[in-house]
Formats: sequence, C-alpha cells, structure tokens
Amino acid sequence: MTAITDMVDLETRDAVAVVSVDNPPVNALSAGVRTGLYEAVTRADADDAVKAVLIICKGRTFIAGADIREFGKPPKGTPGPKVQAAIEGASKPVISAIHGTALGGGLETALCCHYRVAVSSAQFGLPEVKLGLLPGGGGTQRLPRVVGVQKSLEMMISGDRVDADFALACGLIDEIVDDLMEGGLAFAKKVADEGRPLVKVRDATGKIEEARKDPELFATFRKSIARKTRGFEAPEDIVQCVEDAVSKSFDEGIQGERERFVGLVSGQQSAAQRYYFFAERQANKIPNLPKDLALIPVNTVGIIGAGTMGGGIAMNFLNAGISVIIVETAQEALDRGLAVVSKNYERSASRGRITMDDVEQRMAKLTPTLNMEDISSCDLVVEAVFENMDLKKEIFTRLDSFMKEGAILASNTSALNLNEIASVTKRPEMVIGHHYFSPANVMKLLEVVRGDKTSDAVLATTMALSKKIGKVAAVSGVCPGFIGNRMLAQRGVQAQKMIFEGPMPWDVDDVLYDFGFPMGPFAMGDLAGLDIGWDKSKSRGETVRDRLCEMDRRGQKTGAGYYNYDSQTRAKSPEPMVEELIKEFSEKIGKARREFSKEEILQRCIYPMINEGAKILEEGMSYRPSDIDVVWVNGYGWPVYRGGPMFYADSIGLDNVMARLKEFQKQDGDDFWEPAALINKLVTEGKGFKDIT
Ligand code: 3HC
Repeated sequence: MTAITDMVDLETRDAVAVVSVDNPPVNALSAGVRTGLYEAVTRADADDAVKAVLIICKGRTFIAGADIREFGKPPKGTPGPKVQAAIEGASKPVISAIHGTALGGGLETALCCHYRVAVSSAQFGLPEVKLGLLPGGGGTQRLPRVVGVQKSLEMMISGDRVDADFALACGLIDEIVDDLMEGGLAFAKKVADEGRPLVKVRDATGKIEEARKDPELFATFRKSIARKTRGFEAPEDIVQCVEDAVSKSFDEGIQGERERFVGLVSGQQSAAQRYYFFAERQANKIPNLPKDLALIPVNTVGIIGAGTMGGGIAMNFLNAGISVIIVETAQEALDRGLAVVSKNYERSASRGRITMDDVEQRMAKLTPTLNMEDISSCDLVVEAVFENMDLKKEIFTRLDSFMKEGAILASNTSALNLNEIASVTKRPEMVIGHHYFSPANVMKLLEVVRGDKTSDAVLATTMALSKKIGKVAAVSGVCPGFIGNRMLAQRGVQAQKMIFEGPMPWDVDDVLYDFGFPMGPFAMGDLAGLDIGWDKSKSRGETVRDRLCEMDRRGQKTGAGYYNYDSQTRAKSPEPMVEELIKEFSEKIGKARREFSKEEILQRCIYPMINEGAKILEEGMSYRPSDIDVVWVNGYGWPVYRGGPMFYADSIGLDNVMARLKEFQKQDGDDFWEPAALINKLVTEGKGFKDIT
C-alpha cells in the first residue's frame, strides 16, 4: 500500500487499483483528500497493470461532502474540478463503493465515476441548501441526468437523502453489494473483464429530454416551494441551475453553477448557515465533563400528563423505539390523549411518512395508566402538567416517594424555577428540565435546564438522549423563562410599548415576518390564544388584551383577536376597531403617536433580545453565544439564514448595537435599554460574541 497523502492510500489488488480515503470523522473532501484522489487516480490510470479503479472510504461513511471548514479560506490542494476531470476522463473504469452517507461533494465525486455500487444501508443526498449553498461540484447538472429533473429538484431543495433501493431503481447506483470491499472489487473486475463502456453521467440526455416536454415544470415547482423557501437565496439559484441543465449544454450548465456557487459561498446567508451547522453540534457538548462519565441507560420513560404536550413528548420516545407509560388523572383525558397520538401517527402513515406497521409498533409501546406509581421502575420520568409551581412540587414529592433509585426526574416547565421543584425531592441531582416546544413531536428544540444540583451524568445522558429522539438540545441554567422565553419576553415588552407610540400590531408583525420569522408577536398571541393567563372575573379593561378578551376576541380560536380571521381560509386582516382601541390607549397614557421606520421597529424588537442574551451569558446561564442561537433558530423560528440573535449582533457590529441601545435609552429615559456589561466589555475590547470561547 502506498500513502498518496496522509488521507489517501493506493494499493493494487488483483489488477484493481484501490484508492482508500481516510479522513475521520466523515471523510470530508478536504485538501488532502482532493490531492490524494487526483494523484492516486492519475497514477492508477497510467499504470498498465491496472484494469479498473475503485474509490472506497474507511471509517463510518463515504465522503460526506466538502470540508465545510475550508469555505471562506484561501484555496489549498488540488481544485475539485481537476479531481473530477481526472476521474471522469480516466481511460479505465472508475467505480465508487459507497457506505454511510454520500453527501454533497461526496455524491458529486461518485457521480463523476463511471459506475457506483453501495451497501444496502447507504444513503445519498445533496444537502448543500442547508448550508445556504448549491451543489457546486456539478451536482446540479449531473443529478437531474440520473434521477430526473423533478426528483433532483426535490432532493436539492429539501436536502433530504434517498436510500439504496431508490438509488438502484433510478440508476444512481449500479448494484447493491453485501460487502463493501469484496463487492466493490468483484464489480470492478466484472466491468473491466466485460469491457463495459466508460459511462459518463454528463452525456446522459434521456431524463433531460423528458423534462423538456413539460414547459410548466419549473413554474409549478417554484410555486410548490415558495412558502418553505421564503427569504432563502440558495433555492432559487438551485432551480436556475437545473433550468440550465435542461436548456443549455453541460459545460454551460457547469459554468452557471460555478458562478452562482461563488456568489452564495461568499454571501452572508451561507456564512450564517455554516456557522449554525457547527453551532448545533457544539450545543450538544457539555464543557468539562469527566471523560469516563457513565451514561444512565434509558429504556423506559414515564410521562405525566396526556395532554397536547405529554402526548407529543411521548411520540418522540416511541419514534425512537423507547417504551412509554403515560399517566393521567381521569380515564376520559387518558383516552383523548391516546386518540390524539394514534391519529397523529395515522396521518403520518396516510402521507407515506411511516407504514401502518410502524403505527402499530409505536402504539404497542405506549401503555396508558391512571395510577402514577405504575411508572415507578421507569428510567426517566417527564412531568408535563399545567405550569403551576404548587402542582409541580406536589408531583415531584410523590415521584420522590416511589420512583426507583437512579431514575431521571425531568420537568417540562417552560419558565418555573427548577431548583425549587428539585428542592422538594431528596435527590435534586437527578432532577433536570426538559423544555419541549409545541407541537412537541414536531419542533426540533429541546431546551435542557440544568439545575444547580443536576448531576453530570443526568445532564450528559439527556444530551445523548436528545440526539436519539431526533432533537437539537441546548442547555440553559435556571433563570426566569430560561434562554428562549426570557429573551422573548423582552421582545414582547417592546412590541406592546411600540403600539402605543406609532406602529399598529400588523406593522410590527410585518417587519418581523419580512425579517424571516414565521409570524410576529401579535399574530403569535392570536394563535396561542389571548386569554392564556387572562381571568374574566378580574378583567377591568386595563390593557388592550383585556379589552379584546372582554369582547370575546380571544384570538384565532374565536375568529378574531388583534386581527380578524376569515372563517374559511383563516387569512388574517387588520381590524379598524382594534386600531381605534389602541389609539384610545395611547391617548389615555399620554403617548404622542409618530411615524416609525421599519428599521426602528426591527431594532426595538431585536436589540432588547440581544441585550438579554448578553445578560444570560454574563450570568453563566448559557455555555456559549451559539447555544442561544440554537434555541432561537429551533424553538422560535429565527431565520437560520441570519444565524441567530447573537450571530446577527456580530454581523451588524456589536458597537452599532450598543450605540443604538444607548440612543433608545436616551429617547425613552428607561433603564430597560442599559447595555449589558458584557456588551460594553466586548465593544471596548473591539470584540464580538464570536470571540467568547
Ligand atoms: N465538513 C467538516 N466537518 C464536518 C462535515 C463537513 N462536511 N460534516 C460533518 N463534520 C463534522 C461535524 O462538525 C462533527 O464535528 P465534531 O465531532 O467536532 O462536532 C463531526 O464531523 C461529526 O458530525 P455529526 O456530529 O454531524 O455526525 P453524524 O454522524 O450525526 O452525521 C453527517 C454525519 C450526516 C455526515 C453530518 O455530519 C452531515 O450532515 N454533514 C454535513 C454534510 C454536508 O452538508 N455536505 C455538503 C457539504 S457542502 C459541499 O459538499 C459543497 C460541494 O457541493 C461543492
């Protein structure tokens, strides 16, 4: 065996040159891999004793894409196009043998090979869109030629993967092999011995011609993705590249792809999304844990409360094959909860996301009970009852009396003091917060709340478990509202204040929607119900919300709130009476109304969040700024192409944020705007949140 670079080896086995890539953990297409591939393939091609070339990867996966850390840095190693040209233009068959995930530049490399084989568990995809990019290694031109234009668009816009069966059926791979190396070698020898042609995907025209027959294809596709891709730049660029694939020559298509890729990779959206990719992975890491820390096995979970939240939480565990016992106080509530879970699963099955067998298997792992003590031997309990401290304390006191030793006791509180909840038990080290977001089976975020006494093992187990159940976890310390709701509250304060000074609720909502949020605070209030926490018997019309609820405008559920809602389409429209009501309040509190620019509305909403985020860091309630961003992107709809509030603050300059906070402070005469000490410090040192390590 010859080491070509420290990441690529070459050896000849039975007249097949085996080019092995070894760049853990995911065999990213780093400079050393590119150079190694180029040198090895060129050398093998020139070697008369070699009849075929097999590209294979060591470790857990085939090449999982370009090395994301290399973007934005000066180019090193052999350029990608040169590597691809060497593979595609080789004079003898080049075959890739795929296992794990062939993603991005990895799949694009494989698409330059003349043949591809894979093990049955392999997956294939072009997920560049998730990084604010398009497949820049020929993927936009080659994939449509193999899987068809429509399917390639779906794959590249969603970033989703396809499995080996699909890949075989559409010709993305040529054979499924049992053993990666032996199967790959046997296939390579067969191709060489039979003198099969050197198939170049770039020359395939069938699927392109088929697409030309449908003049509406792109318009229809654009319409179908408009809502999901709103605000993102990369999807439209991808569609344009594929349009080129259909209407132009391969080389012109590649040229267009290259130009658009360069535009995206140097843009702000991709920088934000690449930052976010690493932020999410970093958030799962707990600093200073002992290396040999043993995790607590979690095979059974007890859930207290079968309401919307409890049911949704249960689904996460059931989906991961973990048994759940769900507890309610009344049979009717229990039946209702189970029916909702079952209906959710059936809906997923009807949409083809899971099979009816899956539904049965998952429901079979769900045991309902009215007796809380039935969960006594569970490894983890998640309490998901009404947000009331006395009730939570009562439940944790009971849990402490009968739960087995070593069980993790989690509360799904969204804002209450976890330390106080833990204090009623004799085992506060086993208590932790699991703040799920509604709908809990859909929303990705798990805000993990670390109590003052929560043990390392409980925390580390929770982080590992979050991955298993498909959640993105970030840790918060104990403070009112934790990371997410604490910052949201600051935005809410300003949104409410602003409507008495000039903008109407829809003006505020529109600005936040245009920024990229799915909705603004007033639309969100209408959606959640304005009467949450409102008491009719005590309501004295002192706030706009009181007045709206008193008029039975309680939000979407009553067809009206801040907005009116169309009974058929649920489309919202502003209500003149609400406008009058707000103006009346302005007058009552003596606020002169004035014009606000969109920029000012945005700053009034976002800058208090940034300031609060800084305070959260200052107090040690978050390990790192990027964890805050993870909470906001996954739990509150912050547009990922803006990275998160802390990344956004850096991108506009922390000095600018601080200057504006001070202006608002002067204008308002309110300490609310006092810049956090951390912001002061960072600005003085000429640093940003990114410099906090
Ligand atoms: N570049 C650099 N580092 C990468 C990487 C990449 N493409 N992919 C993963 N990593 C790193 C992660 O940051 C992580 O590092 P850490 O251990 O220090 O935190 C480590 O590899 C393991 O990654 P995961 O924790 O995500 O491991 P999983 O097993 O859960 O998932 C994976 C593996 C499915 C490969 C997942 O990492 C993934 O989706 N990676 C990104 C794939 C991708 O986006 N490819 C396209 C890149 S862009 C491109 O190819 C452009 C081209 O078209 C020109």
